[in-house]
Amino acid sequence: MKPAKPKTVHALHDVRENARKLSILYTAEVEIARLIGRWLPAVPWLEEKLLLGRLLYEDAEHAAWLEERLVELRVAEARLPDFRRRTAPALKLLERVTDPDQFLAGLFRVVKPALIADYRRHLEACPPFVDDPSKRFLSRALAEEEEHVGSGLALLAKRGVGWPDSGGIESQVRAGLWRLEDKEGGFAAGDFVGRTPIAQSRPVWPAEVEHLAAAAPMPHYPGTFAGDMQRVAHDLVFSELEAEEIFARYVYEYPQCPWQFHRESARICWDEARHVELLLDVLDRYGGHVGQFPAKAPGFEEFMSLSSPVERMIMVSVIAEGEVSTDTQTQHREAFRQMGDDLSAILKDYEMADEVSHGRFGERWARRLAQQMGADYDTAYARARDALNAFKACHPEAEGSSEIALVRLGADEGGSKRLVNATAKRLLGYSEADILRLVSESGGSLIEDEAV
Ligand SMILES: [Fe+2]
Ligand SMILES: [Fe+2]
Repeated sequence: MKPAKPKTVHALHDVRENARKLSILYTAEVEIARLIGRWLPAVPWLEEKLLLGRLLYEDAEHAAWLEERLVELRVAEARLPDFRRRTAPALKLLERVTDPDQFLAGLFRVVKPALIADYRRHLEACPPFVDDPSKRFLSRALAEEEEHVGSGLALLAKRGVGWPDSGGIESQVRAGLWRLEDKEGGFAAGDFVGRTPIAQSRPVWPAEVEHLAAAAPMPHYPGTFAGDMQRVAHDLVFSELEAEEIFARYVYEYPQCPWQFHRESARICWDEARHVELLLDVLDRYGGHVGQFPAKAPGFEEFMSLSSPVERMIMVSVIAEGEVSTDTQTQHREAFRQMGDDLSAILKDYEMADEVSHGRFGERWARRLAQQMGADYDTAYARARDALNAFKACHPEAEGSSEIALVRLGADEGGSKRLVNATAKRLLGYSEADILRLVSESGGSLIEDEAV
């Protein structure tokens, strides 16, 4: 490669100017991640939801890299929360619009292109050698942003959202962007996306899916092998989708937590998006399709109905993910093995690995948040468990027995069907006594499951 043309000193930024501009890019990435978190459960199209899950994670990562470099460039860590509590009018506008296509057009046609331009200009002003750590992550963020724009624009075009269709909102967004030249980035201090989160009681799903309320009865299983397998895979697609949508809300909400919390939440959101993909693959291999059955989002509804931030985090991340889902995925994997569907069993084993890290995330952050908010962890845990039990009691699962092991499992994690994955539980920090109590309380059995 040809060496870069030497730059004049005026074209380069010093440490101070570098940090000032990086702090602006940091705010932009944090706000974009929050915006995606707000919209992911509100955008009705599946492909868009899956793309947004990955983008949310990558943008949360970009913000984390920027944060790290800011600290290296001698920015006091105490300043970071201020950078997450300021915003540009364009971003607040995109939080409040009501049409998901206006959000997507604003994001892919205006906001991300502006970010790309700023990354490129910033890179050009990085002095050689001394600022290579910035260049390294900025080039990666830039490449990812370019890919985001390409993928997002392609989806808009695929659905026939033409360039002139969103001109009005785009010009308003353009007028309210951040400005790299401005000392404070042109941001308004004190406000930010998610300061007063827009409530959403249920996720918005594709029009072809009959979306039932959590309390509504589900139809009986079809009663044939193919029909029952399609039905169970269809149910699982939507339970992974609601998980993706819940973790998007984790990024949109919880402004009291450090960015590392949102970075990890965003990773879980992307994990759940990949679980949706894996279940779509299973559904497809058994000859089913999305919209073939009704679907429900009980977890999302319950999460959104709880008001205590600590209790809702315990309910989802400690109980549903750590305690229950590590076992559910183990049971599903074993059921697929019994059926001779080794591909699905392999996919499920990867999902189980993800669930262990989701449970660890829950153990760590729920305790920290409880402490920070002055809440007693054990009381919050008991309340979350009661709320979950009360909620489960009023949302019926489909009845019926089946010859197929996977179908018989249903969503019920109790009784003799329960396999308590002792290895996963140890990784989550459970003691041997905790594990045995879980086995006796559930009436299930124990499985050892070492990876190596
Ligand atoms: Fe999952
Ligand atoms: Fe999970």
